[in-house]
Order: sequence, then structure tokens, then C-alpha cells
Amino acid sequence: MRKPVIAIDGYSSTGKSSISKIIAHQLGIVHLDTGALYRGITYFAIKNCISENGQINLENLFQRFHEITLQFKQVEDELTVLLNGTDISKEIRTNEVSQQVSLIARQKEVRDFLLEKQRKIAADGGVIMDGRDIGTIILPNADYKFFLTASIDERTKRRFLELQKLGIETDEETVRKNLIERDKIDSEREVAPLKKANDAIVIDNTNLTKKETIDLILSHIAGF
Ligand code: C5P
Repeated sequence: MRKPVIAIDGYSSTGKSSISKIIAHQLGIVHLDTGALYRGITYFAIKNCISENGQINLENLFQRFHEITLQFKQVEDELTVLLNGTDISKEIRTNEVSQQVSLIARQKEVRDFLLEKQRKIAADGGVIMDGRDIGTIILPNADYKFFLTASIDERTKRRFLELQKLGIETDEETVRKNLIERDKIDSEREVAPLKKANDAIVIDNTNLTKKETIDLILSHIAGF
């Protein structure tokens, strides 16, 4: 039996990845956190493509795509992200990466580099992919599409707790500003902006627990 292809898009820190991970486990399908791909490229750029003025040299990054291999590996219950074989799961969550990632993700060259890689993963079905442009661009024919949103206060609280758990030092104001800034850049970019697909189901989970959000999503895909 063919397994479903599910697209989960939405604003930063609406729980897309952690919810997708649990749904993937329950349905026995693959989960791809596409944000980790953009974060991985950003991390590579920060490490390898900084010009004399301290900024990321985009041309240099574009020329070096062939040096980048990103892989996901399941270690116990955690998904680890490998850049050329090195675990960068924690590094890609730092403020430094969060502050640059949307500027990298708005580049057409970067999106083109990742487009087919993402589609290939979904080619045989049985995948839940979360990001910003999954339902609109990457998998427009997905069986199910969801668009998650929540208030900025709730999202700030969630991301702050998540970073604390990872041992990454920050404060709520920095987190809030970063979420607002990223959502703005992601929504306003020319290539594949963050937006709801016409046929996506919107879920505002401000007042829902993670489990309630998961149950709601599963109620729509029951019977597959
Ligand atoms: O999902 P996460 O918050 O880790 O994503 C980090 C950034 O990667 C987003 O703010 C956005 O700039 C970019 N991104 C994207 N398209 C996706 C997934 C993430 O542009 N499909």
C-alpha cells in the first residue's frame, strides 16, 4: 500500500519539526526537517565563506556547493544532522546561524541546490516534510498539507525553552526578535516565500498542546 506524502509548513517555532517527527514515527514514514538543510548550508557558509568585511561571501558559497554533503542520521530518538560526516545538530541551532539563515535561504541558488534533493526523498511516498515552501513548491501534489501558526508570545516561549534544553545561552527578547525577523524575510522573499498553499489546512496551535496538534493532524489523515 502506498504511504502518504504530508507537507507541513508554517511560521517559525510553531512545532512543525517536533510534531512531524512524532507523526512520522506513528505512521512509519520518513521525516525530513528541511529547515535543517538551510541551517546546515548557513553553518558551512559561516565557517568557510566569510569575506574580509566579516560578511558571508555568497558567490564563494555558490561556487562551493559541491563541497557540501548533508545527511540525517537517527541516533536513539534524536535526528542528527551531519555536514560532510560531522555532527552539527547543536551548532545549527545557535543564534549565529538563526540570525543568518533566512538571508541564505532567500537566495535562488541555495533553493535550487536543495529543490531536487528534497523531491527525491518524497518520490516513493511515505514522507512528512516540514518547512516553509513544501506545500507550495517542493511537493505541490502532497496528499495532505497543513499550515501551522501560533501567537508570537507562545512561539517565543517554546523556542526559548527548546534552546535552554540544548544548553544554548540566549534570552527571550533575542529569540522573539529573531522569530519576527525570520518570518518577515521568509514571507517577503521573491523565491518560494513562506505562504499557505491554497489547499492547506490551517491549524493555530497557540492554545493546543503538542499532542492535541498531532491528534488533529492525524484525524485528517485517518484512513490512509
Ligand atoms: O524550520 P527552521 O526554523 O529551522 O528553518 C530555518 C530557516 O530556514 C527559516 O527561517 C527559513 O529561512 C529557512 N527555510 C526555508 N524553507 C524551508 C525550510 C526552512 O526557507 N522549506
